[in-house]
Amino acid sequence: MADRCPTVIASLDGEDIGVLTLVHHSPYASEVYVMGVLPDHHRRGIGRKMLKHVEGSLARARVEFLQVKTLSAKHPDEGYEKTRAFYLAYGFRPLEEFPTLWSPESPALQLIKAVAR
Ligand SMILES: CC(C)(COP(=O)(O)OP(=O)(O)OC[C@H]1O[C@@H](n2cnc3c(N)ncnc32)[C@H](O)[C@@H]1OP(=O)(O)O)[C@@H](O)C(=O)NCCC(=O)NCCS
Repeated sequence: MADRCPTVIASLDGEDIGVLTLVHHSPYASEVYVMGVLPDHHRRGIGRKMLKHVEGSLARARVEFLQVKTLSAKHPDEGYEKTRAFYLAYGFRPLEEFPTLWSPESPALQLIKAVAR
């Protein structure tokens, strides 16, 4: 899927350290399909910078909403607690839980953000 979708790569000193892949669902709405930063580079603003870059191009294309799905807080994974904190800090807001979208063992949380103009 990622090879058919617009992708942003963050690089530092020639090393690729972050990736963000988008899916466009409609003229109005896109989704962060994959996002990750190498662990050694966490908490340095790279994730935020990639999202800002993407939001800029979505705004120019008049896309209005950006969504992301991640593991719900109903699952005890501590790593994804940090992921949810990241999206919340950026301005995403929880919209709906999907308990079986991926599998009953991996309940999904959908978050959404109005694209900044
Ligand atoms: C989620 C992820 C992409 C965030 O990238 P990052 O570059 O580390 O995030 P940033 O440095 O841009 O963080 C921006 C803000 O988000 C919040 N945040 C980020 N990581 C956080 C954490 N571990 N705990 C709490 N808040 C966090 C903070 O408010 C942070 O600002 P601050 O550092 O000034 O306080 C990264 O942690 C990651 O790759 N995680 C593993 C993969 C993953 O979960 N991908 C998403 C799947 S849906």
